[in-house]
Amino acid sequence: MNLLDTLKWRYATKKFDPTKKVDQKLVDQIIEAAWLAPTSSGLQPFRIIQITNQELKEKIVPIAFNQQQVAEASHLLVFAAWDNYTSHRIDNIYKHTTEGRGQTPDRYKDYTDRLKKAYLNRPSEANFEHAARQAYIAFAFAIAMAAELRIDSTPMEGFDSDALDKLLGLNDMELKSVTILPLGYRDEANDWLVNLKKVRHPKEEFLIEFK
Ligand SMILES: Cc1cc2nc3c(=O)[nH]c(=O)nc-3n(C[C@H](O)[C@H](O)[C@H](O)COP(=O)(O)O)c2cc1C
Repeated sequence: MNLLDTLKWRYATKKFDPTKKVDQKLVDQIIEAAWLAPTSSGLQPFRIIQITNQELKEKIVPIAFNQQQVAEASHLLVFAAWDNYTSHRIDNIYKHTTEGRGQTPDRYKDYTDRLKKAYLNRPSEANFEHAARQAYIAFAFAIAMAAELRIDSTPMEGFDSDALDKLLGLNDMELKSVTILPLGYRDEANDWLVNLKKVRHPKEEFLIEFK
């Protein structure tokens, strides 16, 4: 199947079969797809938290406005962005880059100085929003990779991020949750959405062309 068939197969699963667990090796591939996502300046300014603990998933249900997918899914991934950019965070990824490529440590100094000048002089909220946008790209990669593996998922931002950050201690990690992604297998008999048509804006309205 090609990517378009995969994207037509997936849907925002409303009901998972809680008895079906996803093989960790497959979840690792989903995480790897997110890890490979492009990010602005390569900063990769977010982390993924994987939750399989049932008690913890159940604690997140009320935080996610009682959306049961959170507890019924096999795995729950939380995408959490850096709460701000710092000199250390910028230097750290470029240290990995120069070491990984066998380059001199100052190879990207002019570039990172420019990044620091732009990012370290603006409010943390602007930096978090920028980091969160990078997390969304990886989120999309994870959704597509899950579908490629015929694993169901529900993209979700319907949750109280402050409450989730508190529960998971994300503030101490200088992170803020952005999105969550329950992963599992659909309960075909009980999911109201599974057989409904996928609806989008008409393509002729969606694409604006300048010829
Ligand atoms: C960023 C984002 C947040 C979403 N939040 C939720 C959510 O909290 N709960 C839910 O059931 N679906 C959620 N959705 C799913 C959308 O409603 C769904 O993707 C959209 O209606 C299109 O349907 P499809 O994904 O089945 O093609 C979210 C989707 C995205 C991309």
